[in-house]
Amino acid sequence: MRWSSAAIALASAKSFVVALDPVSALGNKFFNKDGSQFFIKGIAYQLRPTDPLVDTDQCERDAKLMTELGTNTIRVYHVDPSADHDGCMKAFDDAGIYVLADLDTFDTYIIPENNYWNKTKFERYAEVLDTFQKYDNLLGVFVGNENIATKDDSPTAPYLKAAARDMKAYRDAQGYRDIPIGYSAADILQLRPMLQDYLTCGGNSSETVDFFSLNSYSWCDPSTYTESTYDQLELYAKNFPVPIFLSETGCIVPGPRAWDDQDAIFGPQMVNDWSGAIIYEWIQEENSYGIITYAPAGQPAGPDVEGGFLRKGTPTPKQPDFSALKSKWATNTPAGVHKSDYNPSKVSTRACPTSTAGGWWQVNGDVDLPTLGQILAVNTRTHSAEVATETETATETVVSVTASDGAVVATTMAITAPPSTATDGSSSATTSGPSSATTTSGGSTDKRITSFGAGVVGAVLALAILL
Ligand SMILES: *[C@@H]1O[C@H](CO)[C@@H](O)[C@H](O)[C@H]1NC(C)=O
Ligand SMILES: *[C@@H]1O[C@H](CO)[C@@H](O)[C@H](O)[C@H]1NC(C)=O
Repeated sequence: MRWSSAAIALASAKSFVVALDPVSALGNKFFNKDGSQFFIKGIAYQLRPTDPLVDTDQCERDAKLMTELGTNTIRVYHVDPSADHDGCMKAFDDAGIYVLADLDTFDTYIIPENNYWNKTKFERYAEVLDTFQKYDNLLGVFVGNENIATKDDSPTAPYLKAAARDMKAYRDAQGYRDIPIGYSAADILQLRPMLQDYLTCGGNSSETVDFFSLNSYSWCDPSTYTESTYDQLELYAKNFPVPIFLSETGCIVPGPRAWDDQDAIFGPQMVNDWSGAIIYEWIQEENSYGIITYAPAGQPAGPDVEGGFLRKGTPTPKQPDFSALKSKWATNTPAGVHKSDYNPSKVSTRACPTSTAGGWWQVNGDVDLPTLGQILAVNTRTHSAEVATETETATETVVSVTASDGAVVATTMAITAPPSTATDGSSSATTSGPSSATTTSGGSTDKRITSFGAGVVGAVLALAILL
């Protein structure tokens, strides 16, 4: 009897697990299939450099604790399109969790020092889309993450837009659903708001991103809406033409994190224009941004250990950050607007930004996007890259290269991280520069902005105050 009632209970509990319906974008909002607005309460999840979505048992363990936390989305930076993701995608789906995935992998990243978008990259991006499009809980994909991060990186923007154009056309040609295709930007004052305007300007929706997101570390608890400059983020996001959200947030300096920025994002100040936030990050590792651990730091080398951190097991909340986030998300439950009450014509497409002489934004207006394989003449970096913080001690090597036709000059830049922050040769939270994204191996490879991002804002604010 006991067994059978337990079995019945289990069976009926199972029947309550309803598969997630796809989320779609309209105007500047995401909507569930039932018309309610969807807000991201997300966690960056990359336990391993290559692909964290291949170990079903692990995904199930993590998904369970994420449900307790109140998460409805994970962000994954690198996946292996040839691997089997059915188990993990189902584990997250069963837990009510959507997935945002980056289409680029280490060797397909669009790099400012060598701008190109050609058939090879296109096909590799397409493989990732082909693999993940079949999952209804795929929320969207990124064509890039923080590709533009230093003074002379903006000529990369047309390549990112071309990548979005081609992946959208491919998605439609394959008959896939309207999976949102967007970009995740480093939040850098000198590039804001030009980059977000550029990627959504021009009036041809076949060529613009479906969403825009920012990796921002400018809110360091204790802080406020204005002190953190979130008021500036909001200013530029007002009636933005596509959904906008924070694709990384969670400054750890000085810590612990109270996550007070969630009150701003989901509260009256920002909720009409923002679609939520992704917290950086799930696993505690070298960069110290984690909210769970699988074991204490300093584990001996082993197959599931990297940088002294175990990458597998039963997740244990790291306190007080975990519980603080849980209560923030439990109290921030905006209803948003129902799709039937929403008028998307209220959104405003901005003019394409103009180039500023000697400035950070060097793409003038609505330039023709490169066709697949084309290299634009604007791909010329004449300045050595300038990193936006006084405290950054990375050393830079700028190497000029001339294309085979002799017409185009590009540059290659190697950035060496300060030794103090990259002692183990893996990813470093303070390393800046796109090259780190292709050479580092840690799960947080794309995390080069973390404290750097906060540093940038701090330095710029300090400068602004001085002036
Ligand atoms: C794309 O460009 C890369 C780098 O120049 C090159 O190795 C690759 O062969 C190119 N692919 C195609 C299809 O031309
Ligand atoms: C919009 O962009 C697509 C893709 O680049 C292009 O094929 C189409 O001609 C454009 N439409 C207009 C009206 O310019």
